[in-house]
Amino acid sequence: MSDLSVTELVAGYGDARVLHGLSFTVAPGEICAILGPNGAGKTTLLRALSGMVRGRGSVRLGGTELTGRSPDTIARRGVAHVPEGRGTFMPLTVEENLRLGAYVRRRRTGVDADLDRIYTYFPALKSRLRQTAGSLSGGEQQMLAIGRALMLRPRLLLLDEPSLGLAPLITRELFRIVRAINEQERTTVVVVEQNAHLALGIAQQAHVLETGRIVLSGTAERIRADEQVAQSYLGYRV
Ligand SMILES: Nc1ncnc2c1ncn2[C@@H]1O[C@H](COP(=O)(O)OP(=O)(O)O)[C@@H](O)[C@H]1O
Ligand SMILES: [Mg+2]
Repeated sequence: MSDLSVTELVAGYGDARVLHGLSFTVAPGEICAILGPNGAGKTTLLRALSGMVRGRGSVRLGGTELTGRSPDTIARRGVAHVPEGRGTFMPLTVEENLRLGAYVRRRRTGVDADLDRIYTYFPALKSRLRQTAGSLSGGEQQMLAIGRALMLRPRLLLLDEPSLGLAPLITRELFRIVRAINEQERTTVVVVEQNAHLALGIAQQAHVLETGRIVLSGTAERIRADEQVAQSYLGYRV
């Protein structure tokens, strides 16, 4: 059985259609990578999954239909979206940002325990609790954004270009942590990445998007092994 099931998803902005009928599934506890060039519709796909843009077709999480529901409702169902550009609140402290992440979840108990759990993944955040998010480095801000998403105790974590603007070393560390979260929390992950090599390194399945359509799907291993695929679909070596 799949955890996330997307069928004939169509979405866009106003009259401009961006996604032209996407279908794919993600098994429980798996990491799925969405790859593809700029403008392919990767961000729009994540927005459609979290209800930030309206979609037609079907998006089901654990059998529950999410299409047409509000972003709030979808978040309460366990979908946490870390948007492109991170979406942390710069004037607020690290701790305030993290506590905000628990705001929409159903059960408010255990927030302090969850904070501790998040500090084990991101020890750098613990030493910066009282600092404003705006004073953090890019890598720490991305960690904060993911930490905040984890406060929702998500069943499905959506990550949009977590490596954007970060140094390679920081990016590798970040992906290692995402993998650890996936393994320890059994959180299903959909990660959008320009850095195909990194994403394929932690994912089980991958889909390549081009102008709003899936042009290639397969196991991460297979896509990684096929250099010709990488060159023709991704435009670079993985
Ligand atoms: N808020 C928006 N309003 C109108 N068009 C948008 C908006 N955001 C993105 N688009 C358009 O949708 C298409 C896909 O964009 P996007 O989903 O951001 O792609 P990607 O994340 O793969 O780079 C692009 O043609 C882009 O110009
Ligand atoms: Mg994008």
